[in-house]
Amino acid sequence: MNALTNKSVLITGGGSGIGEGIARHFVDRGAYVVITGRREHNLIEVAKDLGSQATYVVGDVTLSDSRKKMIERAISHGGSLDALISNAGNMYRCDVQDFEEEKLIEIFHSNVISGMMLVKEAYSALKDSQGCVLFVGSVHTQRAFPNASPYAATKGALESLTGVLAAELGKDGIRVGCVRPGGVPTQINVRAGLSTQEESDSRIESMGNLHALGRPGTPLEVAEAFEYLVNAQWATGNVLTIDGGLGLGVTHE
Ligand SMILES: NC(=O)c1ccc[n+]([C@@H]2O[C@H](COP(=O)([O-])OP(=O)(O)OC[C@H]3O[C@@H](n4cnc5c(N)ncnc54)[C@H](OP(=O)(O)O)[C@@H]3O)[C@@H](O)[C@H]2O)c1
Repeated sequence: MNALTNKSVLITGGGSGIGEGIARHFVDRGAYVVITGRREHNLIEVAKDLGSQATYVVGDVTLSDSRKKMIERAISHGGSLDALISNAGNMYRCDVQDFEEEKLIEIFHSNVISGMMLVKEAYSALKDSQGCVLFVGSVHTQRAFPNASPYAATKGALESLTGVLAAELGKDGIRVGCVRPGGVPTQINVRAGLSTQEESDSRIESMGNLHALGRPGTPLEVAEAFEYLVNAQWATGNVLTIDGGLGLGVTHE
């Protein structure tokens, strides 16, 4: 029996990048997976490739109706909800002088508030299954990258939430965790209009020497941390760093 056999898992933002990596790894390990996102073509492609253990819901995590559909679909597809992986997220980085209030609200909505609302909406299903909620933090809370304060602030909020929600939900048998990845080449900067895919990938590759392990990571490597937290029955309130040592602040002086 694989470690995730028959677990029912909802992965928001599972149509690309880290979420797709988690979906691929989890299906490989025997889980039933529902992936979500706004772009249907990504979801169709990934779900088709994953076969009958995976399905998808097109929806926006900032909308209550979409979130409800995602949770309902995960329960009907997998027979319960064992893990909510709140992975959908966006990048917003700019100088302080260029802050736009509406964009700050938008990024807190997609990266933080949607996850909080998903926890509320999934609460009874997670209590029934004695399941877990997992957030996605970031190395941005460990290393200060100038101009990235909006994004870093959302990830700091998620890491704080992890502890407080773990304390609050432990009595109901619901565990809460967070995985804190380092640099992984994905579409996040491209979707934010910051660069082309090529520029984004080569910028992350060029950060190789800032990592203790000398290279950025892959979505599948990050996915292993999620598997651990889904299965670790006495682990709650943890922020698990998986970043090749980027957050250590390695210098080569
Ligand atoms: N890449 C990194 O180096 C890195 C490092 C640390 C943490 N992270 C975090 O990892 C998570 C995944 O990001 P990624 O790097 O894998 O980038 P990505 O490939 O762009 O994935 C983000 C996913 O979130 C979905 N999404 C965004 N806003 C949404 C919304 N309002 N409703 C529904 N889905 C939405 C996107 O799908 P649609 O556009 O189709 O909706 C997309 O599939 C994010 O939380 C990110 O902050 C990334």
